[in-house]
Parts: sequence; structure tokens; C-alpha cells
Amino acid sequence: MYNAFFGLTESPFNLSPDPSFLFRSTQHEEVLANLIYGVQSRKGFIVLSGEVGTGKTTMLECLRDFLNAQQITYASIFNSRLTPDQFFEMVAYDFDLRCSRTSKTEVLFALNQLLIERASIRRTTLLSIDEAYYLDREVREEVRPLGNLENRRGKLIQIILAGQQELDR
Ligand SMILES: Nc1ncnc2c1ncn2[C@@H]1O[C@H](COP(=O)(O)OP(=O)(O)OP(=O)(O)O)[C@@H](O)[C@H]1O
Ligand SMILES: [Mg+2]
Repeated sequence: MYNAFFGLTESPFNLSPDPSFLFRSTQHEEVLANLIYGVQSRKGFIVLSGEVGTGKTTMLECLRDFLNAQQITYASIFNSRLTPDQFFEMVAYDFDLRCSRTSKTEVLFALNQLLIERASIRRTTLLSIDEAYYLDREVREEVRPLGNLENRRGKLIQIILAGQQELDR
């Protein structure tokens, strides 16, 4: 109702993070620059932690625009309450891996192939996990070895773990 009254074209208080409403504070600019730098320079793991509602998910959304522009293949996992099997299934779906998505071995094999292909044409690949603090220990143990895949130029997959400050521990 107030949209019509104030002559607005979109609802201003939407709860979903929308980069088009982004307020570019110095900290937000810095976070985005660091995420982009971390991904581009193939650092492997990047942790984005901060207090509740400070814009972490919004920053990941902004990063997505950049990744699309740079042709960086990425998968985003935002539901962290997953079993290891569901985790691999989601990775396979998001990267559109051609394999039996319910077999961990096949998913890992197909992912490895994708990463090698991407690296051979000097393209970066990213996996971002929001609410990473809630990942089960078992799933975390599956994520860790992915970060070890590397060639001479750096890590084959960049992994962003985002979540509230408990994540730092
Ligand atoms: N820089 C910003 N400019 C505009 N809106 C923002 C900004 N940062 C956060 N918001 C808004 O604040 C709300 C919370 O942001 P967001 O969900 O990104 O925070 P979060 O850090 O991921 O929170 P949580 O810790 O609960 O996951 C959203 O509605 C989002 O649009
Ligand atoms: Mg969030």
C-alpha cells in the first residue's frame, strides 16, 4: 500500500538480501574486495564471519554478480543442515556434474575432472557455503580435503565459508 502512496516501484523493506539495494559502506566494500581477491588469487579457503544481520549473505549475492561477469563457475550451498550424502548431491546439482549424484565416489571423480578442465583453461571454480557454522562435523570433514586439491598455480577449488562469529572458532 505504501509503495503506491510514496510512488515506489519496489518494496523497500524486503527481507531477502537484494544487491540492488546495497549500501556500499567502507566495510562492505572491503569485504567484497577481499572476497574477490581471495577467489582470484586462488587462496583456497576464505572465511567470512560477522555478527547476525551484518550483510554476509548480501555480500555473497554481490559476489555472484562478479563471478558471472568473470565466467567463474560456482556452486552455492545455503542450507548447511545436510548429511554428507546430501552435501555431495547438492554439489553435483550445483556444478551440474554428469554422474550418479547419489554416489560420493562418482561425484568426487566428476568434480575432480571439472576442476582439472577448468584449471587447464585457467578458469577459477568456487564453492560457497553460507551458514557454515551449522555444518555437521562429518560434512566439514568432507569439505576439508576439497581444499587440498591443487596444481602448481594454486588451489583448484576456492571455498568460501560464511557464517556468524562462532565460525571463527
Ligand atoms: N550493506 C547493506 N546494504 C543494504 N542492505 C543490507 C546491507 N547489509 C545488510 N543488509 C540488509 O540487512 C538484512 C540482513 O542481511 P544479510 O541477510 O545479508 O545478513 P547476514 O549477515 O547474512 O545475516 P545472518 O547472520 O542472519 O545470516 C537483509 O535484509 C539485507 O538486505
Ligand atoms: Mg546470512
